[in-house]
Amino acid sequence: MKTYKIAVIPGDGTGPEVTAEALKALKAAAVKTGFKFRFVHYDLGGERYLKKGELLPDAVLDELRTLDAILLGAIGHPGVPPGVLETGILLRLRFSLDLYINLRPVVLYPGVRTPLRDKGPEDIDFVVVRENTEGLYAGSGGFLRKGTTAEVAIQESVNTRQGVERCIRFAFDYCRKRNSREKKLTLCGKTNVLTYAWNLWERVFHEVGKDYPDIEKDYAHVDAICMWMIKNPEFFDVIVTDNMFGDIITDLGAMIQGGMGIAAGGNINPGGVSMFEPIGGSAPKYAGQNKINPLAAICAAQMMLEHLGETRAADLILGAVKKTIQNDLRSLDAGRMGLGTREVGDRVVKYIRS
Ligand code: IPM
Ligand code: MN
Repeated sequence: MKTYKIAVIPGDGTGPEVTAEALKALKAAAVKTGFKFRFVHYDLGGERYLKKGELLPDAVLDELRTLDAILLGAIGHPGVPPGVLETGILLRLRFSLDLYINLRPVVLYPGVRTPLRDKGPEDIDFVVVRENTEGLYAGSGGFLRKGTTAEVAIQESVNTRQGVERCIRFAFDYCRKRNSREKKLTLCGKTNVLTYAWNLWERVFHEVGKDYPDIEKDYAHVDAICMWMIKNPEFFDVIVTDNMFGDIITDLGAMIQGGMGIAAGGNINPGGVSMFEPIGGSAPKYAGQNKINPLAAICAAQMMLEHLGETRAADLILGAVKKTIQNDLRSLDAGRMGLGTREVGDRVVKYIRS
């Protein structure tokens, strides 16, 4: 029987609670469809950092490279200054494992409330392909005369031809494979102001686009994209963008699909090990209360199964999530679901088994 070795990084805050429910769903789906998991747990996160001063040891990174996929709960601890865990663990994982795609579906499931009054599931169904290793996140820049009144702080956006091209190519391929009415790839940029970076992106978009005559090519500035995501989300099929814009527009996307309780994403290296995570943070104020919504983590696990090629198991989880939303949940928000974290996981498992 096929056995997948999965690294599990529950992380901080509510991370361990939602991860536990995702593991329950994964096990149930594997039993039902006939394969196995071996879960290898790693205690990366704020607690380990505070106790041992360790963020992401090289030895752990080397082990992770040998596994089939990584499931991450959340990183972020109130006792650690902002930036330390994010750059030392999450971003280091993305960069070191070359997880150059951040794939973030924005899908409104039936029965989920969206703040967009006149929109429904038929209108909100698109995917953001966010470049995940370059741009403003590359850490290029520095200070001059720090701490003086003449201080200069520079933060540069790094865009390589190769990095832009592989991201755009992934987006075109993904768009071609996706089950959508119209095949359309929208480049989300800022060609009118950021005239170096987005000139490169736009040129590569049209060059690579020649290989995809079946896909409609579309461009919009990032500010306009924010407007359309609210006014006409049905315009979008697949959106490709850089790291910073992708970070921002996917929080907006998470809100129109029902919030952080449901939004999941994949950090993907198509030729290596990939990492799946709920988009929301560690929500420390809800930690240990059985109040947080585990569906985003369960959806991350579902994306992981799809990535591993276990389509049947992935579909089982997706179906179970949809049934849970429609039959059992009052809301997707933490503390308002009408069920606890574990009980939501139990319902999902029940539907997977039935
Ligand atoms: C995300 C998060 C991260 C990011 C933070 C925690 C570093 O907001 O995954 O979107 O900015 O990429
Ligand atoms: Mn973000």
